[in-house]
Amino acid sequence: MIQLAIENLLRQRIGLDPDTLGFATIKRAISQCMADCGLTDITDYLTRLQTSTQELEQLIEMIVVPETWFFRDREPFVFLSRHIMSEWLPSHRDGVLRVLSVPCSTGEEPYSIAIALTEAGLATKNFSIDAVDISKKSLTKARLAVYSRNSFRGNNDEERQKRYFTEVGEQYQLCDSIKNTVNFMHGNLLDPSFLIDKVPYDVIFCRNALIYFDNSAQAKTIQVLECLLVDNGLFFVGHSETQLLTPRFVTVRHPLAFAYQKQEDKNRELKQDVKLRNRKEPIERKRDFQKKLNPKLDVSTSKEFLRKSTEAKTIPLNKEKSKNSTTIATSTLKNAQSLAERGQLHEAINLCESYLNEDPTNADAYLLLGQLCRIQGNEEHAEECFQKAIYLEPNHYEALIHLALLKEHRGDIANAAVIRQRIKRL
Ligand SMILES: C[S@@+](CC[C@H](N)C(=O)[O-])C[C@H]1O[C@@H](n2cnc3c(N)ncnc32)[C@H](O)[C@@H]1O
Repeated sequence: MIQLAIENLLRQRIGLDPDTLGFATIKRAISQCMADCGLTDITDYLTRLQTSTQELEQLIEMIVVPETWFFRDREPFVFLSRHIMSEWLPSHRDGVLRVLSVPCSTGEEPYSIAIALTEAGLATKNFSIDAVDISKKSLTKARLAVYSRNSFRGNNDEERQKRYFTEVGEQYQLCDSIKNTVNFMHGNLLDPSFLIDKVPYDVIFCRNALIYFDNSAQAKTIQVLECLLVDNGLFFVGHSETQLLTPRFVTVRHPLAFAYQKQEDKNRELKQDVKLRNRKEPIERKRDFQKKLNPKLDVSTSKEFLRKSTEAKTIPLNKEKSKNSTTIATSTLKNAQSLAERGQLHEAINLCESYLNEDPTNADAYLLLGQLCRIQGNEEHAEECFQKAIYLEPNHYEALIHLALLKEHRGDIANAAVIRQRIKRL
C-alpha cells in the first residue's frame, strides 16, 4: 500500500510509469534507500520522500535506467550528418546549429551528435549542444567523458574510436575538442518550467525515455519539446516511441532514423496551450492534447497496411518483372519502413517476409528485413538476409556495408575485412 503511494509520487514528479520497471525492482530500490538513510518503517520513509528533495533524488538515482551507448541505432546519426551537409550547411554558412539531447544520461548520445556534426563539416563554433538529464550521477560521468568498452557496443567503428578517444588503462577518454562542445545541465522533463528561458532548438533528440513514462507524462513531454523546436526542426525519438508524436511531426525519408520534421505553424493553438499549461487542470490538459493527436495514427494500424499490401499482392507477380511488380515492391517496402518507424517491428518483419514469399528475388526487401531483424536482436537471421541480398545483387553497396558491420560486431573481423575490401573496390 505504501509502495503504491511512493510509486504515485514518482509518477507525479518524474512521469514514471511504475509498470515499466516492475513492482520488485521498485521495492528493491526503496529497501536500499531506506537502509542508506537508516529507516526501517516504510511510512516514515514516505514522509521523508515527501519532505526532502535530496531523499527523493536518491530514490530517482536508484530507479532511472541510464542505458546508453555511442551511436546508438546508427541511422539517426547518419541521417543527421546527411541533413547537415545537404540542407543546413548550404543555407546557414555562418549560423549556429542549436541541438538539445534530453535525456542525455551519461553523455554518449550528445557526444555522438557532436562527432556526427563535426564529421559533417560543421566547425565547433557553428554548433552548440545542450544535454539534460534528471540523474546527477549520470551527469557527473558525462562531464568526465571517460568510458568503458561497454559504451562502444553496437555499430561503432574502431577508426572513429581511435580518432576521438585516448586509451587510459581499460578506459577511453574523449578528446577535449568534442568534450567542450556539450553543455550538460540538470533538469526534469516534467518540470513545468523545463528550459523555459531557452531559445528554440534546430534539432532535438529525445530517445528512450518516453517508453518509461505514463501516457500523461508522454503527452506533456512531447508538447513541451514541440514548443522548444523551431519550425522545420528535426525531432529524433526511440524506435518504440514514434506513435506518440503529434500531427505536426512528419517522418523524414530515411529508414530507421526515427526522425521527424516539425511542420510550419499552421495552428498556433498548440503553442498557446503550452503557455496555458500551468493554468489548466491536468485532466483537461490531457483531454485537449489527445484531441490534437493525429486521428490517422490511430486508424493506420499495421493491420491496415498489411491489408492494403495483401490486396496489392493479388495482382499476378510471377510474370516477368513488370512495372506493376516494381510499384508493388516499392510500396510494400515503404509500408514496412513506415511500420518500423512507428515501432511496429514485428508487423514490418511480417510484411517483408510475406512479400518475399511472393517475390524472393528482391534484394532490397532482404536488406530491409535484415536491418529489422538486427534491431530485434536476431543477428543470425539478419546476416542470412544481408547475404541473400548480396547473392541477388553482388554489388549491393548497403547490404555489403551492413554485412561488414554485423560481422565486425559479431567478432568475425577476418571476414568483415574481406567484405570491406570488396566495398573499397566498388
Ligand atoms: C535509457 S536513458 C536514454 C539515454 C539516451 N537518450 C539514449 O537513447 O541512449 C534514459 C534516461 O532518462 C533519464 N530520465 C528519466 N526520467 C527523466 C525525467 N523526468 N527528466 C529527465 N531525464 C529523465 C534517466 O536519468 C536516464 O538517464
